Amino acid sequence: MPVALVTGVSRTRGIAAAVAERLRGDGFTVVTAGWTPYDTEQHAGIDEQVGSDLQYDLGDPGAPAELLRAAEDRAGPVTALVLAHTVDTGGGVFDITAASIDRHLAVNVRGFLLLVQAFAQRRREAEEGGRIVLFSSGPPQTGSIAYGASKGAIEWMTYAAATELGRLGITVNAVNPGPNQTGWMSPEIEREAAERTPLGRAGQPRDAAALVSFLLSDDGAFINGQLITSDGGHGIAAGSWPR
Ligand SMILES: NC(=O)c1ccc[n+]([C@@H]2O[C@H](COP(=O)([O-])OP(=O)(O)OC[C@H]3O[C@@H](n4cnc5c(N)ncnc54)[C@H](OP(=O)(O)O)[C@@H]3O)[C@@H](O)[C@H]2O)c1
Repeated sequence: MPVALVTGVSRTRGIAAAVAERLRGDGFTVVTAGWTPYDTEQHAGIDEQVGSDLQYDLGDPGAPAELLRAAEDRAGPVTALVLAHTVDTGGGVFDITAASIDRHLAVNVRGFLLLVQAFAQRRREAEEGGRIVLFSSGPPQTGSIAYGASKGAIEWMTYAAATELGRLGITVNAVNPGPNQTGWMSPEIEREAAERTPLGRAGQPRDAAALVSFLLSDDGAFINGQLITSDGGHGIAAGSWPR
């Protein structure tokens, strides 16, 4: 049975929880990772915790390799890696701090890259290929400039990793779920998002989960090195050029 490791899973309404549920339905054994101290600070009052199998602060440089090891101890060789964890504590040009920049890059960029590395090392030893899906976002992220910088880095990491790992049969793709109702949208924001979206509603976690499911399926085997947006046309309607 294929085994997927999914990060960022502890919140019931988060995208990663929907991905984990979807992949279980697809027949994956799913190992989930979270870091609930972040939720307590950032999402208090808007959600419940679904919990996760493993808890690691992925801003710790040693955590990614330890997480991979712990996931394999639990479920056997991980064949698919889905990275949805993120730090987004806001801050624009005039109020971002050095500490906040470092934290966004440590968790979102270094945490992603070291997990990709640990996964690729294991898949290379197994000589069996694998699948990686990284969660990105769309520009401009006004007022969340360090988060935006980290998501830009994830996009380029996707291209570099896809071209290096393709020879090993490992695909690497990024998903931009667009504005997605994971609990952060007030009714007004959700209404506005729906109005700006050609398909007439805001994104839901299940939309992103369906795309991840496809990318990990046999039918998704030849998709590599892509940033794929699933936003009902929100970005293109706002004038962003598809990349
Ligand atoms: N929602 C949107 O509108 C939207 C739009 C564009 C892109 N995205 C991207 O889609 C992905 C999922 O979005 P979401 O809204 O569902 O995310 P989210 O719930 O805000 O964040 C994901 C989770 O990452 C985990 N996390 C935070 N710091 C961590 C750390 N130091 N170590 C390990 N895990 C940590 C948190 O805890 P737990 O793991 O304990 O839950 C958090 O709940 C993210 O990568 C986000 O950037 C979302």
